[in-house]
Amino acid sequence: MTILFEPNRQWAAHLTPLLGAGVHTVARSEDLRRLLTDLPAEPLVVVGPTTPATVALEVAALQRLRRPALGVVLLRERLDMETMAQALRSGVREAVDAHDTAAVQSACSRSLEVSRQLTGAAAPTAAEARIVTVFSAKGGCGKSTLATNLAVCLADGGRHRVCLVDLDLAFGDVGIMLQLAPDRGIADLVASRDRIDAGLVRALLTPYAPGVDVLLAPVGPTEAERIDRDLVVAVLAAVRTMADYVVIDTPAHFSEAVLAALDVTDVHVLVATPDVPALKNLRIAMDMLDLLGLGKDNRLVVLNRSDAKVGLSGADIERVLQSRTTGHIPSSRDVPISINRGTPIVVDKPSHPVSKAIRDLASGAIAQQATARGGRWQRARSGGGR
Ligand SMILES: Nc1ncnc2c1ncn2[C@@H]1O[C@H](COP(=O)(O)OP(=O)(O)OP(=O)(O)O)[C@@H](O)[C@H]1O
Ligand SMILES: [Mg+2]
Repeated sequence: MTILFEPNRQWAAHLTPLLGAGVHTVARSEDLRRLLTDLPAEPLVVVGPTTPATVALEVAALQRLRRPALGVVLLRERLDMETMAQALRSGVREAVDAHDTAAVQSACSRSLEVSRQLTGAAAPTAAEARIVTVFSAKGGCGKSTLATNLAVCLADGGRHRVCLVDLDLAFGDVGIMLQLAPDRGIADLVASRDRIDAGLVRALLTPYAPGVDVLLAPVGPTEAERIDRDLVVAVLAAVRTMADYVVIDTPAHFSEAVLAALDVTDVHVLVATPDVPALKNLRIAMDMLDLLGLGKDNRLVVLNRSDAKVGLSGADIERVLQSRTTGHIPSSRDVPISINRGTPIVVDKPSHPVSKAIRDLASGAIAQQATARGGRWQRARSGGGR
């Protein structure tokens, strides 16, 4: 999590969603001091544009020796050379133009990365990222909603690195849901398909929030056709080396890209809504996954809009699915409202029941499955078999 020091409400409301989930916003120096004492492991203070620069300089200078892992990022409405030089001399990690949202997010991500290195949370080595694929067998069940919100939750305000990959290649919605400019993405790899590596893929990621980077889908179906299974395999192998989690959003059918993703997935998150066609299709999809030998022991069935009054009880649902359900996400009109605003609901309304359900899913069942897979990975790498 991050502490934002910004007394101006409008600026605070603008900046908070940019900084990821669970930001503590304070408006007074004494509150900042108290929070820093209460939260000794907090890695980042962002000093907002209407706070006097001296506050940032003081915090940075004071904490520099006491708490070197704490990063201070200074935002200014206008950056001049003198403030910049003074800030950097006092130990402020970055001074950034507050209007430049991409620069603000990149500066925060870089600072969190430095903090991570300083606290000894080692960067993941190759093949360590856990891959979480969100899939459903019927369109409109809430895959993209869940994938975007899960990515933010798993990043935990920048404590983990998450790469969100939009594999709904023809109609990807992740860019729109997060209001990201479609300047670059997976389609740019087509020309370099034989030499895809982490460096190349990293250059095509779009930063969203601290800890969250996104590999966007192509802007249209024509480009999507040029992305085949081999390319997806290479991309996933590359992103896996540079994140703690890779979260994959998918279309509602077994495309080549989806099969490639499911093949390397550690946690299969299967989404259904409580209506008979969605449940029946998910059951068929699970049979297909069983046939392919995929995900039987690392599958989570999540029921979205689970409280919709549609005449099916929990027992009916589990009977149709022949499977237990793990996550239950309530239905709320605040979900489409947050999507229309371009901000995941876990950021927009952190205490909303939908946000709580998704956060619980991320920190509970998904983290547990991922850790269990981690054990298997470790054993496989030390020769114990996967
Ligand atoms: N829990 C919820 N409560 C209310 N509305 C929801 C909920 N989850 C998703 N929705 C709405 O359902 C619609 C479909 O969601 P979303 O785009 O995430 O589904 P999808 O499975 O990715 O669809 P597609 O298969 O078309 O990619 C959106 O308008 C979203 O706002
Ligand atoms: Mg979608």
